[in-house]
Amino acid sequence: QLQIYLQGMLQGTTPEITTDLARLESQAAGTLSAEAMGYIVPSAGNGATARANLAAFDRWRLVPRMLRGSTERDLSCTILGTAMPAPVLVAPIGVQTLAHPEGELAASRAADTLGITYTHSTQASHAIEQIEAKSKWYQLYYPTDRDVCLSLLQRAKASGYDVLVVTLDTGTIGWRPADLDRGFLPFLKGEGLANYFSDPAFQSKLAKPISEDPGAAVMQWAQMFPNVGLSWDDLGFLRDNWDGPIVLKGITAVEDAKLAHEHGADGIVVSNHGGRQVDGAIAALDALPAIADAVGEQLTVLFDSGVRTGADAAKALALGAKAVLLGRPLLYGLALAGQAGVEHVLRCFLAELDLTLALSGYANHRELNRDSVVRA
Ligand code: FNR
Repeated sequence: QLQIYLQGMLQGTTPEITTDLARLESQAAGTLSAEAMGYIVPSAGNGATARANLAAFDRWRLVPRMLRGSTERDLSCTILGTAMPAPVLVAPIGVQTLAHPEGELAASRAADTLGITYTHSTQASHAIEQIEAKSKWYQLYYPTDRDVCLSLLQRAKASGYDVLVVTLDTGTIGWRPADLDRGFLPFLKGEGLANYFSDPAFQSKLAKPISEDPGAAVMQWAQMFPNVGLSWDDLGFLRDNWDGPIVLKGITAVEDAKLAHEHGADGIVVSNHGGRQVDGAIAALDALPAIADAVGEQLTVLFDSGVRTGADAAKALALGAKAVLLGRPLLYGLALAGQAGVEHVLRCFLAELDLTLALSGYANHRELNRDSVVRA
């Protein structure tokens, strides 16, 4: 915080990117193409769930405590064996070159600069091996082809990814009118397929090399990506072939959280994919308390969908999350200024979380609990 004030005073300029993280979207809108905006911002259907995600945060209020001597704060933690400076991770986001030419390279470098764990999407614009961050998790979209699945897992392990995040809520892509109206899906243009195109198992399924027939390669991906037929039993294959923690992302039903535990998951992300999948679905924050009550002792419960500010993170932590994943705000930072923009957003977010704890009388985010918040 002091750094930001000093920068403003010494350089006599207002920071180029807002520190009002809830306002980033409108600022980024000025730099993104209509197609990129349409892909990143609007969510599924008429956006009811995306709006509900944000509204849910507004229905909880923090209750600051006074005179508790919280001069020294320590937000560090270990989540599924990964040491973190704060309970915050970068959410997996595909095709980041839509926001900036350096895409995931810039985002992962920014995370690395701050020691924040970066989660790499299967649908990224850069391949698994290109990400050099020290702390990284790999997000899998479970393909219908087991050879390709195994190959992706092996590549991620060989490249030093510590935790496997399996996204369950995207058996296929949701009904997204902004993209449908434009007939725009980046993958069909070959964007966001770097992990597939660089994959030896995937390449071996093609009649011709990708350079000779990229269209056929895209169609091959389109055969493997939609996988709505997955069931709980399919997780056994991942357990057998991933030596490390497994996190299931996209859980909002208490019953599914219990099933995740029964099927050997180590953690879950309570998430509705930022409202991009089932419009009309429950706000992620509304699902969190009951899930944390049901499985919080057995599973590491993480959270995303609608986290915009440090205060939001404090609320999610109070309601039972062990850490939060930051999604769209980082993409807006990326769109505005590449790596520096992502660093700016992460710094502001961490500073606001730290300040929220300091001013609320907490030395440590683990002290947050249900008494730290009330229904508005
Ligand atoms: C996503 N998200 C996502 N999740 C995932 O598991 N794999 C992916 O490739 C993507 N791709 C993706 C692209 C874009 C443009 C967005 C906005 C989101 C979902 C992401 O991990 C996270 O769940 C949401 O971003 C959380 O919602 P908010 O807080 O960003 O609204």
